[in-house]
Amino acid sequence: TTVHVVNGPNLNLLGTRRPEVYGTTTAAQLEELCRAEADTLGLELDFRQSNHEGQLVDWMQEIGAEAAAGRTIGVVFNPGAYAHTSVALRDAIEGAGTPVVECHISNVHARESFRHHSHVSAVAAGVVVGFGVGGYRLAMRGLLGINQG
Ligand code: DQA
Repeated sequence: TTVHVVNGPNLNLLGTRRPEVYGTTTAAQLEELCRAEADTLGLELDFRQSNHEGQLVDWMQEIGAEAAAGRTIGVVFNPGAYAHTSVALRDAIEGAGTPVVECHISNVHARESFRHHSHVSAVAAGVVVGFGVGGYRLAMRGLLGINQG
């Protein structure tokens, strides 16, 4: 069984982009952190990043098909700035038929007001905000808990 971790725009720049906000862990190190957690939980990891909204929509549809085949426990999704702008991503998540946990590295509620609303939150199984990259670990555990009832 697979756990999917999907990162949206600009998260390829982790480690160098605003380290005072997002920390110094690189995207490659984040993938390793997620892989270690997946191993601990007995799951396969599928880790992806895209800067393109349509690509993220395609992936949600694809993962939805994986879910229909019983091959995934769901998605940890950091939509980046698309959280605040994208109805298309919201619709894709709603249609995917698998739990999606929204994860933000920074505490978006302590930042600019345009980051306070997320289109994704209303269709997310849960939201993890402000725990740094360790939030991905919490989100994976949360997903597993949902699956185990
Ligand atoms: C982010 C928060 C967003 O507001 C921002 O646009 C990002 C990163 C986070 O992980 O804290 O790109 O999703």
